[in-house]
Amino acid sequence: MASLVESFFSSETAPSNLDVSLATTREFIQFHLKENRLFCFITSGGTTAPLEKNTVRFVDNISKGTRGATSAEHFLNQGYAVIFLARRMSIQPFTRHLQLDEILDSLSDGTIHDNKVDFDLGPKGKKIFSMIEQYKKVKEHNLLLKVDFTSISDYLFLLRGISQLLSKCEKRAFFYLAAAVSDFFVPAAELSEHKIQSRDSTQLTLKLTPTPKLIPLLSKEWAPLSLLTTFKLETDPSLLILKAKRAFTDTGPNHRVVVANLLHETRRKVVLVLSHEKQHREIVNSLESGKEIEELIIKELAQIHHDYIAESN
Ligand code: PMT
Repeated sequence: MASLVESFFSSETAPSNLDVSLATTREFIQFHLKENRLFCFITSGGTTAPLEKNTVRFVDNISKGTRGATSAEHFLNQGYAVIFLARRMSIQPFTRHLQLDEILDSLSDGTIHDNKVDFDLGPKGKKIFSMIEQYKKVKEHNLLLKVDFTSISDYLFLLRGISQLLSKCEKRAFFYLAAAVSDFFVPAAELSEHKIQSRDSTQLTLKLTPTPKLIPLLSKEWAPLSLLTTFKLETDPSLLILKAKRAFTDTGPNHRVVVANLLHETRRKVVLVLSHEKQHREIVNSLESGKEIEELIIKELAQIHHDYIAESN
């Protein structure tokens, strides 16, 4: 498996933001290590599998980034410094509360005088202002670092680089890998250089190669002491727990949690499958609670992380 991963990294192209992103991440980690903070590394959104080098078309998946962006805010609330590796243009922490069309409507209903507009954000106003207060604190203390990816290879290069940097935080780093990762891709050597032309054939046949599984290596070699939570999305309820348990195969003792969710109920229910407990923990959120399910998930996970740190080595 390790050799498959090595050949992936030697044959695929690193993203153009790799060096700058890793330099910024290194600084971020050094800064917060001095502050004695806990770290959360969140991956969010879906990776693309490009069909051309000069990419016009790509295979995508359903993830919008809601889980990752919402979770980032809740980890920040718990005092973590957050590294947010997310698909470019996916849903982002804080800005997710601002609907531009609603703001434009409010602005156009406002009164204009001296180049200023007085406007009312309506019933959402209070929530938005408390979100801005939280954002101000996050900015003031430099608690959120955003890095972006688009393709599966961008993602895997950045995942490896950031994990290796975080390994020096040992147990203080918590990995929350919520991105939906392409299981298949077209290797760089087999990609068409330019846009595939429809006039050249009557059918487009795609030959996709399995993406190497990186979690075992991440868990055992790149960041062997950091606590690892991965995600599993399925559509068939009878497979969900089975597949979540299978995710622990070949990973180290630091891979403690798989958050399992079914496509049609990701916002309402998840199951925490724990490597060291026979019983799963179901987290169900009701519409009436007025809470986001991520608030409940992160409370539970932060406790698991604290217990993990407290364990003797
Ligand atoms: O973003 P939203 O729209 O809110 O949706 C959130 C979500 C449903 C996408 C999220 O809650 C979720 O379930 N994400 C995981 C989806 C999934 O099952 O992905 P996967 O099977 O590609 O990956 C599972 C795990 O294996 C991940 O930790 C991934 O990093 C890892 N993986 C996957 C493929 C691969 N080749 N190597 C890996 O290491």
